[in-house]
Amino acid sequence: MIDDLWYKNAVIYSLNVGTFMDSNGDGVGDFEGLSRRLDYLAGLGVTCLWLQPFQPSPNLDSGYDVSDFYGVDPRHGSSGDFVDFANQAKQRGIRIIVDLVVNHTSDQHPWFKSARADKSSKYRDWYTWSKTRPKNYRKGMVFPGVQKSTWSYDKVAREWYYHRFYKFQPDLNVENLAVRTEIQRIMGYWLELGVSGFRVDAVPFVIESRQTAKKRFLHYDYLTEFRDFLQWREGDGILLGEANVVPEEDENFYGDEGDRMHMMFNFYVNQHAFYALASADTRPLAKALEATRAIPRYAQWASFLRNHDEVDLGRLTDEQRQCVFEKFGPDKKMQLYGRGIRRRLAPMLGNRPQLELAYSLMFSMPGTPVLRYGDEIGMGDDLTLKERDSVRTPMQWCEESQGGLSTAKKTVLPVVSEGPYGYQLVNVEAQRRDPNSMLNWTERMIRLRKACPELGWGSYKLLKTGDPSVLGIQFEWRNNALVILHNFHEKPKSISLEVDRPDGRRLINLLIGEHSQAGPNGKHTIVLEGYAYRWFRVGDLSYVIKREKY
Ligand code: NOJ
Repeated sequence: MIDDLWYKNAVIYSLNVGTFMDSNGDGVGDFEGLSRRLDYLAGLGVTCLWLQPFQPSPNLDSGYDVSDFYGVDPRHGSSGDFVDFANQAKQRGIRIIVDLVVNHTSDQHPWFKSARADKSSKYRDWYTWSKTRPKNYRKGMVFPGVQKSTWSYDKVAREWYYHRFYKFQPDLNVENLAVRTEIQRIMGYWLELGVSGFRVDAVPFVIESRQTAKKRFLHYDYLTEFRDFLQWREGDGILLGEANVVPEEDENFYGDEGDRMHMMFNFYVNQHAFYALASADTRPLAKALEATRAIPRYAQWASFLRNHDEVDLGRLTDEQRQCVFEKFGPDKKMQLYGRGIRRRLAPMLGNRPQLELAYSLMFSMPGTPVLRYGDEIGMGDDLTLKERDSVRTPMQWCEESQGGLSTAKKTVLPVVSEGPYGYQLVNVEAQRRDPNSMLNWTERMIRLRKACPELGWGSYKLLKTGDPSVLGIQFEWRNNALVILHNFHEKPKSISLEVDRPDGRRLINLLIGEHSQAGPNGKHTIVLEGYAYRWFRVGDLSYVIKREKY
C-alpha cells in the first residue's frame, strides 16, 4: 500500500525547539511551546517534523555539540515534556524525526572528560588521539576561516585530539565497536520514545576511517549496520542522511541494494537550483537532475532550498558560484566559509514571484520536500549575528513584542525587529488574515503536493521546452502523469510542448482554470509570464478526478 512508505509522500518541516515557541517566559523555546503550536503545523499540512538537536548541550554550535544523548536540555523542558509532545504529534498524525549527531560529542560530554583525564579509561579509545602534532593538523576544516585546525592539543590528556568540526566537538572513533553499539543504543532510546527516524548529521565524517590510518577510506558497511538495527527495532523508521557528496558517491550512501540510507538531502540539485535562479539558465540543473536520477527503488531524495546552515555552493564551478554570489550574496558579510551564502531565501530573492517559483520548484522536484520553519511566511535574516546564526532567528508569530516567541526581555537569539522582514510586518497572525499571503500560498502548495503522489513515487523525464530558461518535467506513476513547468526568466516565455502520451493532448491546470489543449500539430503552446510556474495533470477533467483516487 502506498502509505506504508510514508516518507515517499511526506512534507517535512525542520525546526529548532529553542527558537520556535517559549511557554515559560525564559526566552528559550521549549517542548510545551512547540506542543501548543502543533495545530498550526497540522493546519499548514506538514506531516513530519525534523527536530534539530535539543539534548543537553553547552550550545556552542546550536546544540550540535551534545553532552548527553539520552535527555532533553532543561532549557527546552523535561523528558516528560518530550513524551507529551510526541504523543500530541501522534494524535495529529504528525511524525517526528530527530537529529542523530554522532560524528562527535561536546568536549563537555562525560565520555570525553573521562577519556582526557585517564589513559586507561574505557572511553579513551572512543576518540582519536596523537602524541605528537599531526602534520595535517591544519587540513580538512569544515568551517574554513573560523575553524583554525582539525587537531587540537588537550592540556589534560597531554595529547592531540581530532575534531573535523569546531575544537569543542571531538570526533568519536566509530571504528571502535563499543562506539557503534552506543550509537545503536541512542537510536533505540529515541525510537522507544516514539520518533520515526533520524536526520543523520555529517554522514561521510561519521564513517570515515581513523585519522591516524595510512589511507583514508569510508566504512559504508557501518551504514548497513545502523540501518539493520533501525529496521529491526522499527519497521517503518527512516534514516535521512546529510551527505553533501558528488552523484558518483550516492550509490555508496543509499547502498546498491537500498540497504543504507532511506533518504538523502539532494545538495547537488540544491546548488544547481540556486544557479538556475541566479542565471535563468536551467541546463546545469537539468544535468544535476539526470546525474542524481538513479537511486534504489525505495530510496528517496529530500528536496530543499534552505536549511539552518549556509547555502553551500561548493559543488558549482567557480564561474557558476561567482554568478550566484553576485546575484544573491554580493556583500562579503553575506558570504561564509568561502563557499556559501548565509541568508534566508526571501531577502535573497527579494521578490514574491521568484520566491513562489523557487518553492514551487522545491515542492515539485523528484523526492520529498523539506521546509525550514519561517519559510512559509517569508522570514528574513539578521546579518549582524555570527556565522550561520543569521538564519536562525526566532519564529515570528505576531506583532507583539519578541514576535510572540516569548514574554522575556531577551531571547535565545534576537528576533528580527527592523526593516521589511521585522516581526511587526512579517508574522503568522497577519498572514493568516491575508488571503494572498505567503502563508496561505504555502498551505495551498502543500495541499497540492500531497495530491500529486507521482512526485514522490513516480519516474520522470525532462521535457524539451525549446528554451533554456524553462524547465519542464513529466512525472508518471500508475498510469497517471503530471507536467510541471517553471520559467526562471523574469520575462514572459512562450513554449511549444509535445506530451508523449495517448491522453497528452489535454492538460489540466491544477492551480488556475487555464487548461491547455494541443493544437492541430499535436503540440501545446503555453505562455508563461516572468517567473511563472504551471502544474498540469495530463488527461481530461473527469479523468483527473477519477485518477486522484489511488
Ligand atoms: C552539520 C550541521 O548541519 C551543522 O549545523 C553542524 O554545525 C555540523 N553538522 C556539526 O554537527
